[in-house]
Amino acid sequence: MKLKSLILSVALSGTVLAVGAQSKAELTVNAEQGTYTISKHIYGHFSEHLGRSIYGGLWVGEDSSIPNINGVRSDIIEALKDINIPNLRWPGGCFADEYHWMDGIGPREDRPKMINTHWGGVVEDNSFGTHEFLNLCEVLGTEPYICGNVGSGTVEEMSKWVEYITFDGESLIANLRKQNGREEPWKVKYWGVGNENWGCGGNMTAEYYAGEYRRYATYARNYGDNRLYKIVGGPNSGDYHWMEVMMKNIPTGQKNGVSLHHYTLPTGNWSKKGSSTEFDENEYYTTITAAYYMDELITKHSEIMDKYDKNKRVGLIVDEWGTWYDVEPGTNPGFLYQQNTMRDAIVAGINFNIFNNHADRVHMANIAQLVNVLQALFLTEDEKMLKTPTFHVFDMYKVHQEATLLPIDLKTEEFQDVKGKTYPQLSACASMDKDGNVHISIVNADLKNGVDLSCALNGFKASKASAKIITSERINDYNSFENPEKIVMYDFDGVKVKGNDLSVNIPAMSVVTIALNK
Ligand code: AHR
Repeated sequence: MKLKSLILSVALSGTVLAVGAQSKAELTVNAEQGTYTISKHIYGHFSEHLGRSIYGGLWVGEDSSIPNINGVRSDIIEALKDINIPNLRWPGGCFADEYHWMDGIGPREDRPKMINTHWGGVVEDNSFGTHEFLNLCEVLGTEPYICGNVGSGTVEEMSKWVEYITFDGESLIANLRKQNGREEPWKVKYWGVGNENWGCGGNMTAEYYAGEYRRYATYARNYGDNRLYKIVGGPNSGDYHWMEVMMKNIPTGQKNGVSLHHYTLPTGNWSKKGSSTEFDENEYYTTITAAYYMDELITKHSEIMDKYDKNKRVGLIVDEWGTWYDVEPGTNPGFLYQQNTMRDAIVAGINFNIFNNHADRVHMANIAQLVNVLQALFLTEDEKMLKTPTFHVFDMYKVHQEATLLPIDLKTEEFQDVKGKTYPQLSACASMDKDGNVHISIVNADLKNGVDLSCALNGFKASKASAKIITSERINDYNSFENPEKIVMYDFDGVKVKGNDLSVNIPAMSVVTIALNK
């Protein structure tokens, strides 16, 4: 097998990948036991007024020489359509709780300027506002997810924002929308009632925020047939008290989802998070155990939610997740610009496997963030744009959108990082799409060892198998403007299927998705 793996590795990249000893693992996929649908919204996005996310990222303006649709880069629009972008969260983040939406409507030249105090103290000229955002969502065919201002706004302000966007009738505020060029209301479903209200969204206690939520949410009305899906500003990582209070103090009928924010830090230290590209094996594996912590968080938060909502009506909305490193040297510390390596692809795959396997409770997840910020899918430099390894993982995993989650049993080796935290060598998930085809995604986080995986397909006989892989020579490889396709998704032909049995060698440091046709 070692020789086979080596040959495969050479074929993949033209150069030899690190090949160590082979491990073994066993996977059972129960194809007849699917109950839950993997929401497409798990593959959601987030674009905040932060650094070069909107300005210099998505938004170039209608007069730009960079090809654009209504001022938004066409290359990014096209790529987002390719990955079936299901939703886009906006305008923040911390920015949401200091954003006053009325500053972002009307003729652009008349819009007031403000200071973006959270993110670099730069001037925000409000040229990208409600109309620009909602028109972009229409072009993308994606659901808007708007986060309202609780921290520094008023109940009236949030209430009127909903009315401005969705009311199809005569009112001062709906007429203002019409004057600004939009006759028909838009549809908006996902509505966040504040963001991180335990921190940048007002430094509130859980009890105080729960009371505020009830007041703000009451006046965020449903107009016509528009139905809001109201999302409570939820806990920071392992703050289980916050979740308990949200579930207890806010009746189920007054909320549809509760958010959860958790970032993957290599060092676990906010003042020295580690470089996005310069890291050693030890720091790589502490990043992996930090990524796996998401599973514990979702499990424990779900247990609390189950106590108050046993029918699982309320969604856990992981609306900020991803890696957070030190900013790239020489860039504005308030802009959160970082590179994206093969390590980020592994982290993305692990997180998707976790989210999919918790499809009963996780109704949405939004990576932070879309362009030029944190674990971005796209980096831009003037007219240049590149897709990061994380983009390719979104592309690979889109087959799971709206598919039925299949229960699995995975037996794989466990290892320890330098801090003594354990992680499994492989992570996996499986689903069946509406045509009855099965997809199995597997991440091998091991830097040196490939894994001989034997898989039993209970209740499913495959007529045909194919696969895709994302891997590279070194874990800190990345796509640059000079070499934008260093890491992409390849066809992978190492899968063997016979009846209900499948075998495959999963190369070290790779993300693989196998497609099985019935
Ligand atoms: O994604 C960057 C920031 O991280 C968001 O603005 C905030 O919600 C979180 O702390």
